[in-house]
Amino acid sequence: MNKTYYITTPIYYPSGKLHIGNTYTTVFCDALRRYKDLKGYDSYYLTGMDEHGKKIETVAKERDMSPYDHVDEMASDTKALWDRLNISYDDFIRTTEKRHKTVVQKIFEQLLEQGDIYLGTYKGYYCMPCESFFTDSQLGENNTCPDCGRETSQLEEESYFLRLSKYQDRLLKFIEDNPDFITPESRKNEVLSFIKQGLNDLSVSRTTFDWGIKVVSNPKHVVYVWIDALSNYISALGYNTNDDSLYQKYWHGDEVVHVVGKDILRFHAIYWPIMLMALDIPVTFKLHAHGFYMMKEGKMSKSKGGVIYPDTIINHYGLDELRYFLLRELPYGSDGVFTPESFIERINYDLANDFGNLLNRTISMINKYFNGAVEYDPNVNNEFDETLETLITQTVADYRENMEILKVSEAIKSVWKLVSRTNKYIDETTPWILAKDPNKKAELQNVMYHLAESLRHIGVLLIPILLDASESLFKQLGIPEELRTWDSLEFGALKQVDVVKKPSPLFPRLDGEKEIKKLQSILRGEDKETQKPVDESNLATIDDFNKLDLRIAKVLSAKYHPNADKLLILKVDAGEKEPRQIVAGIAKHYKPEDLEDKKVVVIVNLEPVNLRGEKSNGMLLAGSNKKELKVLTVDGLKPGDAVS
Ligand code: MSP
Repeated sequence: MNKTYYITTPIYYPSGKLHIGNTYTTVFCDALRRYKDLKGYDSYYLTGMDEHGKKIETVAKERDMSPYDHVDEMASDTKALWDRLNISYDDFIRTTEKRHKTVVQKIFEQLLEQGDIYLGTYKGYYCMPCESFFTDSQLGENNTCPDCGRETSQLEEESYFLRLSKYQDRLLKFIEDNPDFITPESRKNEVLSFIKQGLNDLSVSRTTFDWGIKVVSNPKHVVYVWIDALSNYISALGYNTNDDSLYQKYWHGDEVVHVVGKDILRFHAIYWPIMLMALDIPVTFKLHAHGFYMMKEGKMSKSKGGVIYPDTIINHYGLDELRYFLLRELPYGSDGVFTPESFIERINYDLANDFGNLLNRTISMINKYFNGAVEYDPNVNNEFDETLETLITQTVADYRENMEILKVSEAIKSVWKLVSRTNKYIDETTPWILAKDPNKKAELQNVMYHLAESLRHIGVLLIPILLDASESLFKQLGIPEELRTWDSLEFGALKQVDVVKKPSPLFPRLDGEKEIKKLQSILRGEDKETQKPVDESNLATIDDFNKLDLRIAKVLSAKYHPNADKLLILKVDAGEKEPRQIVAGIAKHYKPEDLEDKKVVVIVNLEPVNLRGEKSNGMLLAGSNKKELKVLTVDGLKPGDAVS
């Protein structure tokens, strides 16, 4: 039976679009999962969304949406992003799903019954306008609200508490007995010193907002985020349900890894194991907390030095370029910086020059000197072969060792050491000189073979890192499926090489200066592609505009068009004697009941048209982009009022 591997990302807050900082965790876990697959593990990769809480409620309100519609939209955007990034996740859990809520409610009630959760009062500073509680350490100067800067007042709120103090010694012993429970070491030490200061019981419920999972035995309380969020790692596996086979298989399996950013270390290193201990669930996981991607100016934030989004990088450069940069540039145990210069340099030097060119040159030479095909002849050797062969074997070992302890950046570095060494081997063996001497044909073939065999190893080791490039390398070198596996990593396993006639570059070299400027302007929000210039040659006059009879109309009824799945048929009151029928292409974005009673903006003096057998007498105004469409609505005013 294959060993099991269960890996998780944190579940993301749907409070804004995910940037390359949070994308890092997902790509990192994806690389590890692919590595374990390569090694023949039975692996399972979980990611998802953390959809409850005051903040989400507020963001939804600001967008004039219900919290559910908001989180629903964010979840589908996030899924679309992961699909675009080719993330190999097996499950996407959302904390608003029934399968999760039921498990959280059971967990809460069990802990309550056992006395590990108790009712008390939570003292904090309350900001009225923000409707939020803050602790001492969160407050701004003179006890002001850290969000809006206004004065706060001290308030008490009834709250349930998780008895952390009871488990403090057990947790300390667990961490000491399991030295690799938390990595890197520096993070482990942070956790240890925090616990040693003494743990205060943790407030785990709220009565001041609704958007959360209700406490079954006292529904005036909702479960406060961390018990809700952390439980996702087992609720997604069906813990405490009729079908808990995934839970049995993976949670109780061979390896369980939670990857998180350093900001949420404490929750995972303290609260989560204590919850598990209280529930009598074995703490099977290892925790890895990575550093942050920063911008030159500091934290990634829209207002400061700008934010880089993964789709921007993919649109302009490519998925492998993004994966390579993210995985290579963040050092183990500390923060990394995204700068346009470092990103473009990594593409040009590491990917295009060192790696891409090596493949290109190798294929061109095999074509030029041997018409595309060479064979392995173990009897021929030149003085440089041994060093290269030893490094190939050493690279596999170094890579493996680093990947096992989650030093992905180091693992990549070891592959690039081999890339450089192989480039150097070309300079040492000087194939262009060997080619001039017919007696050196066998030696030349041996050099070509070594290049191809080294590249095959590089290709296999890069399967978890560069998705398209590794595939393309195998195709161009003509490597059969069975030699693209971990088990085939042995020098000499490749018996003959049959390469494509014309190599295609893996990573085209970029015009460095131009691309750096482009990225800088994207960061300043001035990118041409995100701007929409006005067509000055086609201006409308005020008379053109006045020709349109634009009015407020109230939607009286709406239904699906019987013969077109994109259309809705609306009856609207536009201030006339009779209701007016309008057919609108909005059925993919609105259910009929969403529109009823809404006041919308319509043009009533357009020539009527027939849309799939239904008369449309006017047009509804809506804003849209590639993904979203929103009908323009107004509050107040009455049907027939003019829009100008
Ligand atoms: N919802 C919680 C996690 C609950 S897990 C049971 C949360 N969500 S988050 O969306 O705010 O953050 C998700 C992850 O992104 C965290 O691991 C966080 O550390 C990581 N990152 C956020 N900004 C980051 C960078 N700039 N760089 C690297 N990772 C960063 O926290």
